[in-house]
Formats: sequence, structure tokens, C-alpha cells
Amino acid sequence: MDAFAAFKPFLTQVESQLVTQLGGETPKPDDTLLLAARHLCLKAGKRARPMLVKIFGDTLGVAEAKLVDPAVAAELIHAASLLHDDVVDNGMFRRGKPTVNARWGNIVAVMSGDLLLSGALLKLAQFDPRIAQAALATVTEMTRAAMDEVQARGNLELTLDQLKAIGEGKTGSLFGFCGKAAALVAGDEEAARRFDAFGRRIGVAFQMADDIRDISGTDEGKPQYADLQSRTPNLPVVLAVSRDAKLKHRIAEAWGWTALTADKIKELGTAVLVTGALDDATVMMNREIDAAVDALGPYAQRESGANLVMWARTLARGIALKGAA
Ligand code: IPE
Ligand code: IPE
Ligand code: MG
Ligand code: MG
Repeated sequence: MDAFAAFKPFLTQVESQLVTQLGGETPKPDDTLLLAARHLCLKAGKRARPMLVKIFGDTLGVAEAKLVDPAVAAELIHAASLLHDDVVDNGMFRRGKPTVNARWGNIVAVMSGDLLLSGALLKLAQFDPRIAQAALATVTEMTRAAMDEVQARGNLELTLDQLKAIGEGKTGSLFGFCGKAAALVAGDEEAARRFDAFGRRIGVAFQMADDIRDISGTDEGKPQYADLQSRTPNLPVVLAVSRDAKLKHRIAEAWGWTALTADKIKELGTAVLVTGALDDATVMMNREIDAAVDALGPYAQRESGANLVMWARTLARGIALKGAA
């Protein structure tokens, strides 16, 4: 991630704002809500969204100081969505740690997620209502997509278009917000439209990479096959069952049982792997990245616009998904 070493000072500022927002260096030890909100949020994660805000802002020549609040808000919205997502998925491990629900239970995870979310929106409302409105629209879209994904559980007929729409809502909308927020700070309407389109496509690609890593087991911070365990038809699974009717039947049967053993999940995950679905998924992901770069139009030619393109391409090599922070 040396290519992005120049962004470290900005990410340090974001980190310090996150600490300030969440009770400072020494929070009260009996404030469970705050401790739970801090648990996965501070000094953790790739900080992909703050970094995106910065790269978008640089492309438009926005002063760094004006980008910190939107970057912090984007990370807080993301962190809130992860806390809630881990309740929805019954996720036990994230960012290399036990999840908030694993440590304090679902109630605390939901409430502390709300604390992160409302803190983000309050921050934005204080300095630019248009950015706050864009953030609220994003949270609405993320919530709808999360629900669509829950409703798709166990559905091996899910189409690639449906899957992409879920990825755009869950992840692309927030990446698009990172672009819109930077463009609104700069007062550039054309950039707001193009950056939103870029963010949405790159978000779909990012979600595809996350789905690939669920099956390949290359994300050290999260357990392998979590999507198979929660009966979520992710991209490699959808592609694998479209190739192999017998495998479709096996997964459908397994998902129909009440309890999935670890051995069964491993067996199915290995079967998905051997179909070659990860290669197909990688081709699809690269296509989304190309479409994202196209959506930038003339902005890709600017000096810092090249960083956006590089960020997108780095994603394809999987480096952006490992330790960018
Ligand atoms: C995880 O996001 C959830 C998805 C959108 C796939 P990240 O991969 O950005 O997670 P962190 O922030 O690095 O933990
Ligand atoms: C969650 O997507 C994305 C959010 C917007 C919360 P996933 O469910 O794929 O994320 P992981 O795999 O649990 O990190
Ligand atoms: Mg999840
Ligand atoms: Mg996932």
C-alpha cells in the first residue's frame, strides 16, 4: 500500500477525530454504550471510505481540512452498518476481534450502532445540510439493501442483476456518498454526478471482492464461508450453482436443514471453489472496475484523478482489501 503512503497523515487526522467523537482517550469505564461503539471503530479497518473522500477531494483541489468531517462521517456510517450487520448475520469475528454482539450481545450492538450513526449525521448536519441529506439518503439505501439481502437468504435463484443491486445498495451507495460529499464541498455538480457513479460501480466491485474473499478465505479479519453459514447467496455461490446443478441441489438441501455443521460448510465451500466460480467472479469484478473508471470521464485525466483510477485498479489486485489503514 506504499502507493497510498501520502494519505497517511490524512488518515491520522481522521483517526484522531474518531477518538474525539467517541469519548476521547480515556472514556468512562462504566459507559458500556460508548465502549461498545469504540470497540471495532477505533484503530481498525482499512479506512477505505475516508481514503476515498480524500482522493475525490484531491481530484477537485479541495483543502484537506474540509475533507476530514465527511471522511469521519463516512467511516462512522460504515462502522454503524457493520455493528448492525453482525447482529443480522450473527457474525462473531470482525477486524480481527470478537464482534460487539459476540462480546456484549445484540441489544448493545444495535444501540451502539445507532450511537455511531447518529453521531455521523449530527456531525454532517452541523456544517452542510446538503451533505447531511445525501448521507441520510445513503443510509436509507443501505438499510433497504440489507433487508433485500436478508430476504434473499436461501434463494439460489437470485439473479446476478439482483445481486449487483444489493451490492450497490449495501456498499456502492456509501462509496458514492464519499464522492458526492467531496464534490459538494467543492461545489462541482458534474463531479458529484460522476463521482457518485464511480463510487457505486467501485462499491459493487468491492462487494464482489468481499464475496470472493468469503469463499477464498483470504480475509484475515473475518471467518471463511460466513455467507454460506448465514445462507446468503454471494457472487461465487450464485455463479457456481448456475454452472453445476448437482451442487445447487446439495446447497439447497444443506440450507434447508436447521443446523449447518462446520464440516458441511467446509465441504460446500470447497465444492464452490472447484467449480472455478472465483475466476468468473474476478472477471466480473474487473468489468465493474473498468465501468467505474469510464464513469469518471474527464476527471480520470486529472493529476489526482489518476489516484482514483489507481485505487480502483489496486482493488482488482486485492491489495486495497488488505491493510490499507
Ligand atoms: C466490509 O467493508 C463490508 C463490506 C462492505 C464488504 P470493509 O472491507 O471496508 O471493512 P473494513 O472497514 O476494512 O473492516
Ligand atoms: C455488509 O456486507 C455491508 C454493509 C454495508 C454492512 P457483508 O455482510 O458482505 O459484510 P461482511 O462480509 O459481513 O463484512
Ligand atoms: Mg455480513
Ligand atoms: Mg461479506
